[in-house]
Amino acid sequence: MTAAAQASLADLVARRRPGRALESDFYTRPDIFEADMAHIFGKHWIYVGVEPDVPEEGDVMVVDIGKWSVLIVRDDDMAVRAFHNVCRHRGARLVNTPKAVVGNIVCGYHAWTYRLDGELIHADHMGEDFDRSCHGLKPVHLRSVAGLLFICLAETAPDDIEYLAAKMTPYLKVHDLPNAKIVKTVDLIEKGNWKITMENNRECYHCGANHPELTIPLFAYGFGFSPQTLDETELQQAQRYADLVTANHDKWEAAGVPSREIEHLADRITGFRTERLPIDRAGQSQTLDTQVACRKLLGGINDPAMGGLSFWTQPNSWHHFMSDHIVTFCVIPLSPTETLLRTRWLVHKDAVEGVDYDLDRVTEVWEATNQQDGALVALQQSGIESPAYEAGPYSPYTEGLVEKFCQWYLGRLSATALQDAA
Ligand code: FES
Ligand SMILES: [Fe+2]
Repeated sequence: MTAAAQASLADLVARRRPGRALESDFYTRPDIFEADMAHIFGKHWIYVGVEPDVPEEGDVMVVDIGKWSVLIVRDDDMAVRAFHNVCRHRGARLVNTPKAVVGNIVCGYHAWTYRLDGELIHADHMGEDFDRSCHGLKPVHLRSVAGLLFICLAETAPDDIEYLAAKMTPYLKVHDLPNAKIVKTVDLIEKGNWKITMENNRECYHCGANHPELTIPLFAYGFGFSPQTLDETELQQAQRYADLVTANHDKWEAAGVPSREIEHLADRITGFRTERLPIDRAGQSQTLDTQVACRKLLGGINDPAMGGLSFWTQPNSWHHFMSDHIVTFCVIPLSPTETLLRTRWLVHKDAVEGVDYDLDRVTEVWEATNQQDGALVALQQSGIESPAYEAGPYSPYTEGLVEKFCQWYLGRLSATALQDAA
């Protein structure tokens, strides 16, 4: 970023009005996209996948984030590790497929060979003075939080991932993600800036008009509302919903299932929020009939109607954990106006398709919802690119978490991209 571009970014950040959308430059300018990649995605904990992506020894997953390529590897001791996918000889990319199963990692160019702990164990014709121990794979910070894999590309990673892990592990471990299996992964390329994808996720203001499937399991009063617009009956319904949430939290927590909200979306470097919420109608799962789609429940769960645990992280993920299945979403920017949304669905690893679960029922709500959200993201991006676009106000009742996303983003840019310039 040039000094002039940095000054212009600093000006954009300084003049942003709280409670309003961001100016178009944030969603369109290539230099701001580069700053996002270098400072937001390059210096924070990024959610990239789940332990069941690499369930067995020798399993490898490749994660590409901008120019970085990272190997997520399951070693023989069952530890999961991450390394840069770059040979220490002349830099060839080591694994060139999204997933692989390997004994060792062998470079396709001159056959330098690395163990799954990154150690270089074989390099022909390098002479007696060559020190293999100085040429192991470069490690990348990796933290598994109850099976959710986060990486950090910075040399020094924010240490408050440990706070997140301490708070979230009791909520997540009930669902025993490490002993689940991925039954479907879908990559959707959305035609919008990554922040539009994230902002869309942080509100359900748009759900009533756009998500006929998702609004079956979700309670409308959970989306937020302006009390002044409700009549007496609706106000009573809203109060009944609030009472239902409280009663369920009390019941689930008494049964050892952490459920109450924790919210640190804008006040921590590794920002996150969680809450377990009741599901409407049959109350069991995010499916079209709100009943479980997999009869073999996750972990040691025996109550199918355990609501849905939602978990949101800055800058790039959200997750829904039900009694029978897990849906997990990872956002990776591709260009200023294109974003990869990678969705994984998981059930218990011993569940048998056609016997315990029907794959279409597991995936139907979020496959439809993702398509609808992708179309909304494209609509917003194309409108924002018009010179007539002016950042409008957020609803104080339904878009508070969009505001927190923007606060977090601008705060972290200021503390990194603009700090480096100062
Ligand atoms: S570049 Fe990998 S062995 Fe030469
Ligand atoms: Fe949506």
